[in-house]
This record gives sequence, structure tokens and C-alpha cells, in this order.
Amino acid sequence: MKIICTKDYQSMCRVGANILSAQIILNPKSVLGLATGSTPLGVYNQLVDWYKKGDLDFSQIKSVNLDEYCGLSKNNKQSYYCYMYENFFKHINIDSNSTFIPNGMEKNVDSECQRYDSIVRKLGGVDYQLLGVGHNGHIGFNEPHTSFEKETHCVKLADKTIEANSRFFNSIKEVPTHAYTMGIKSIMKAKKILLLVSGESKAEILYEVLFGPIVPTVPASILQLHNDLTIIADKPALTVIS
Ligand code: F6R
Repeated sequence: MKIICTKDYQSMCRVGANILSAQIILNPKSVLGLATGSTPLGVYNQLVDWYKKGDLDFSQIKSVNLDEYCGLSKNNKQSYYCYMYENFFKHINIDSNSTFIPNGMEKNVDSECQRYDSIVRKLGGVDYQLLGVGHNGHIGFNEPHTSFEKETHCVKLADKTIEANSRFFNSIKEVPTHAYTMGIKSIMKAKKILLLVSGESKAEILYEVLFGPIVPTVPASILQLHNDLTIIADKPALTVIS
């Protein structure tokens, strides 16, 4: 694993965007695995900026998102579909038929999970997976105690996650209790993984993720076993390590 330390959030995002840009330039048909949340926002902004300057072309890029809340339609502002469209897709020349996100409105869990796994398989797997990490060590919505063997599945969100994500909703009661997520097995199949971590509040979990035992109670600890993992963390997130 490679750990890149940056001075702050902005420079973390710039380095992250540089790495993804290199991937896009070297393989314009890349399949990118994308994440939502606060952490990657600066990366998306930077990529949009370089696209507008003519440095990047997304016309042949394909993307698969990690997760989506159950029960939120594409039009719902809190859906990850909307997040991706507003923060990234609408600003670049990616083909909307080449962007994939689990369908949170599908009530048939088995068929939605199989559909999503088969999309990823047909695309030939993920070339570069972008990840953030939750304060409890989740990646995607793979909460503590999730089996490492799962592909796409439906999860009940941990109280800690609902509380953390309530900042995006009017009230905690509006936060969906379930979500579809690519599983740990799907994430680990990505050819390369880029984990972004920012802020002192993530310092302890980052230490556990990178140097603690590999256990389902810290889902992201499995990343230690990936053979092409890059972590970009800002100084505050590395306070426990350095
Ligand atoms: C979102 C996702 C989550 C987030 C994690 C950190 O698609 O996969 O695992 O990466 O909850 O969220 P932020 O970046 O908001 O701290």
C-alpha cells in the first residue's frame, strides 16, 4: 500500500484528481468506481475544472457507484443519483447511459442486486475504485460485521451512519434506514483502489483500518489485502499514525 500525506483537504483532492486523471488519460475507456459523501466532492470539482479547461475527456468513461439509499427516487435531492448528477455528471461529457447507480426504488432486493452485479461484470470490472471511509470503518455501506464475501446487497444502516448522514437531511427521521451497496467482495475485485481520508475525526479509524487486525468489525481493514491500494490522507487524518 502507498500512503500519500497532504497538508489539507484541498491538496488531498488535487492529488486524488491527478491520480484519476492519469487513469482517464492512459485508459479513456476506464470503468471508474465512484463514491459519494463529503470526502470526494473536491475531487469531482477538480476533475470538472480540468474537463472545462479541455484536459480531460469522459466520453468513453463508464462509472459504477458504490451505493444508493433504498426508497429514494432519482429526483430526490438526497439520493446518490442526484448527488452524482449535480456534483459531477452534469458538468462533464460522460454518456448518461454509461453511469450506473443501484436503483433505490427497486423493492425486489434479489433482482436488483443481481442486476447490479451483472452490470459490473459486463463492464469487465472496476479499473479504479474511489473510496471514502465512515467513522465506524464502513466502505460503501458495508457496516461493521458485514461478511467480506458479499457482492451487491441491501443493508440496514448502522445508527452511527444514520446520525452522520443526517447532516444532509432536514431531520434524522428522513434518513433512509436501508441502502443498496456493492459488497466488500465487489470492492476488493477492483484493479486499483484509491482511499481518501480527511480530518482528525477519521484519524483513529484510519489507524485501525491500515494497521489494526483485518476483521469484519472494521470493514475497511480488508483493504490491507488489496495489491494496489493508494491512500491519500491529509495531515489531520494522519495524526494518530505520524
Ligand atoms: C458513499 C460511501 C460511504 C462514504 C463514507 C464517508 O458512497 O460509500 O462509504 O464514503 O460514509 O462519508 P464522508 O465522505 O461523508 O465522510
